Amino acid sequence: MIPAYTNFGGKIHGGILLSLMDKVAYVCASKHAGNYCVTVSVDNVNFIAPVEVGDLVSLKASVNYVGSTSLVVGIRVIAENVQHGTVKHTNTCYFTMVAKDSEGVKAQVPPLILEQPDDIRRFASALRRRTLRSNVSKRMQDFKTDFEVNDEVRDFIADQRCEINLVD
Ligand SMILES: CC(C)(COP(=O)(O)OP(=O)(O)OC[C@H]1O[C@@H](n2cnc3c(N)ncnc32)[C@H](O)[C@@H]1OP(=O)(O)O)[C@@H](O)C(=O)NCCC(=O)NCCS
Repeated sequence: MIPAYTNFGGKIHGGILLSLMDKVAYVCASKHAGNYCVTVSVDNVNFIAPVEVGDLVSLKASVNYVGSTSLVVGIRVIAENVQHGTVKHTNTCYFTMVAKDSEGVKAQVPPLILEQPDDIRRFASALRRRTLRSNVSKRMQDFKTDFEVNDEVRDFIADQRCEINLVD
């Protein structure tokens, strides 16, 4: 990682890592799909350790799940300090990509062959995340649609670090 990639704190910008991950996800997904792929969503973007200037960053990716036209690519990022020989895991996240044909129309992707117990675990985990995300999405949509400032909402945020002071 070069100094031009740093943020104001002198660490590598999260956006640089996201951009690298997006490119790796594209390569991984399009190779499996045999088609152009677009990024649809990214799950689990947590930076658990900072990446320093000079670190050697490696991204390990695999297609964990395929639906009909979508694929989930899992990416594990590690940063290595080559002088000290230390390696740290900085994050793991999951890119959902959709395959498109040359007309830009969604295209079916080939099924996955699961060869190891870990492959099965990753596939099942991705399916679980997909179901949970869909439930959360639906519940948040309902929350937004039905939202009103009532006693239930006031109680819900009562012990949070905010003060209600409505103005006209
Ligand atoms: C993503 C896109 C193809 C979805 O189009 P759509 O007609 O609404 O498609 P569908 O609802 O049929 O979804 C297609 C697949 O994507 C999945 N999908 C759609 N939205 C999703 C989301 N937010 N998260 C995860 N998966 C999603 C669906 O589950 C479906 O999977 P499946 O075919 O494996 O069952 C379309 O919105 C698009 O092209 N978006 C722009 C993507 C892009 O340009 N990205 C680059 C970054 S700017």
